[in-house]
Amino acid sequence: MSEVRYAERLKNMQGNVIREILKLTQQPDIISFAGGLPSPDSFPAEILADIAREVILDQRDILQYGTTEGYQPLREFIADWVKGIGIKASYDEVMITSGSQQGIDLIAKAMIDEGDTAVMESPTYLAAIQILKTYQANFAVAHGDHQGVWVDELEQIIARENPKLAYLVPTFQNPTGITLSVERRQAIGAMLTRYNTVLVEDDPYGRLSFTDEIMPAIKAYDQSERVVYLGSFSKIVSPGLRLGFAVGEKSILRKMVIGKQGTDVHTNNLSQAMVYEFCRRGHLGPHIASIREQYGHKLKTMQGCLSLLPAQIKWTKPTGGLFIWGELPEGMDAAKLLTAALKEKVAFIPGESFYVEGGHRNTLRVNFSNATPDNIREGFRRLARAIENYE
Ligand SMILES: Cc1ncc(COP(=O)(O)O)c(C=O)c1O
Repeated sequence: MSEVRYAERLKNMQGNVIREILKLTQQPDIISFAGGLPSPDSFPAEILADIAREVILDQRDILQYGTTEGYQPLREFIADWVKGIGIKASYDEVMITSGSQQGIDLIAKAMIDEGDTAVMESPTYLAAIQILKTYQANFAVAHGDHQGVWVDELEQIIARENPKLAYLVPTFQNPTGITLSVERRQAIGAMLTRYNTVLVEDDPYGRLSFTDEIMPAIKAYDQSERVVYLGSFSKIVSPGLRLGFAVGEKSILRKMVIGKQGTDVHTNNLSQAMVYEFCRRGHLGPHIASIREQYGHKLKTMQGCLSLLPAQIKWTKPTGGLFIWGELPEGMDAAKLLTAALKEKVAFIPGESFYVEGGHRNTLRVNFSNATPDNIREGFRRLARAIENYE
């Protein structure tokens, strides 16, 4: 039989490395710091179960088709909620997406033709790289430090390459946990007025701060109307509900809505109505506060365990989110270390795949939200043994 004739755009695409590693870590005796999973005991199951029954019985129209833009009461709630991070928007500048992952896909679908340039941080969210590769983008990469991306370098790239899109995860970044400083957010907001580049501000972790500080969005400083802010309920309610949102200028959202019509018609009405009711009844704030406390404790536990590992490993020091990021001594290979770690029944994600340009084989991402504090301690004892056995 002759070969199936796949599209050019998927020819060189591999499956998501993390999803492949997650398959290896499914056995119950493995302590996994690999995924970006919320803690299962953080899910507000009882409340959601009651709400689900009520909304299905009381609002029969959620069983009907809905609008592509999303459930209007939820859009109104979000328009009000994002004021807390400095974004001024009306409900018709908000669209609901099936997770923020879909937001990335829809903006790429709306904007990227083969060969168009997108600027990414280095390292950055693996799935965003994958999505943009699917749309056959060219990449430019901007570097940074413990305060996030260097604005000068980002501006030089934008001035030189005239990219259609820039993509940043400014708060408790995946994979590094790094947060962009307020000064740099302001500078990026000002800089965008000088160019014709749309910035995708992907922010699934911003509310998961373990200090009193909630960072203002870059979009709060945007006068160009070129920032599309992506939010998500995955890490603050439940990822299985697949609920996210995009906030942006109406004509950009309109293109994303047209793209979404072809993708899934609209986001699941039941998820939208459930999360809206969860928020309307005042559960969201207290629920986020309890997750912040729980994850803050787990991060502290993990940071306490870092001394079990060789002091030459450099770690980021996040104050929120789900991840810390390590740099092994030059020459060490995190993928090889993972093989040794899996023998000890502990897992993490090697960092290479978070780099558009590859390399950086001595880096690794470690998740602290999913394991219990006891398992974090045991996992680090195992990791220490894996490093001892590394050859
Ligand atoms: C930076 C970033 N963006 C988007 C997503 C996708 O999240 P969602 O579940 O909202 O689609 C994730 C998930 O881990 C993420 O880390």
